[in-house]
Amino acid sequence: MGLPVAEWFVEQARRHGRFEIDVIDLKELSLPLFAERQHPRLQQYENDQQKAWGARVAGLDAFVFVTPEYNYSPAPSLLNALDYLYVEWHYKAAGFVSYGGLSGGIRAVQVAKQTLTTLKMVPIVEAVAIPFVAQAIDRAAGTFTAAGHHDTSAAQMLDELFRWTTALASLRGSS
Ligand SMILES: Cc1cc2nc3c(=O)[nH]c(=O)nc-3n(C[C@H](O)[C@H](O)[C@H](O)COP(=O)(O)O)c2cc1C
Repeated sequence: MGLPVAEWFVEQARRHGRFEIDVIDLKELSLPLFAERQHPRLQQYENDQQKAWGARVAGLDAFVFVTPEYNYSPAPSLLNALDYLYVEWHYKAAGFVSYGGLSGGIRAVQVAKQTLTTLKMVPIVEAVAIPFVAQAIDRAAGTFTAAGHHDTSAAQMLDELFRWTTALASLRGSS
């Protein structure tokens, strides 16, 4: 369900107008399960995928992670993509668009926040949570129909993400 949800959010971000957007599809990126010899903090990357991933993340100032909830946790592909790098995540604000069943993915977001703070990221409070996501997806058309409050939550999250991204710029500059 991630792609239609992400496409909806990208449209919200375009409308918001304060960000240049790079959409990263982890399925397309297809990072293998992390098995590098060195801790990423050393930035001694030995394979081209890790080098390319590091360069891409280094070039970005803020993130919005779109994730389902699997067993009260974020998608393993997201945690794997986070584990690949360290310095490149530092001092970057992050918001979440989560989806799932009853919880709308909020438990997954709480779990992901622990990883983010370990990477010196700043996860923000404002978020979009989408419960019972399947009911809002048209599988044939591949589209997600948001409720009005989802649009409002997205706009509030983007406003706050912009504030944090601006405030953290001096720390990013010194890293
Ligand atoms: C293995 C598995 C575990 C799940 N665990 C949860 C859960 O803990 N909480 C929840 O709200 N939904 C849970 N769900 C429902 C998923 O969040 C929902 O099916 C979502 O659409 C999955 O995302 P995806 O379609 O992008 O894979 C689970 C689904 C699967 C397949």
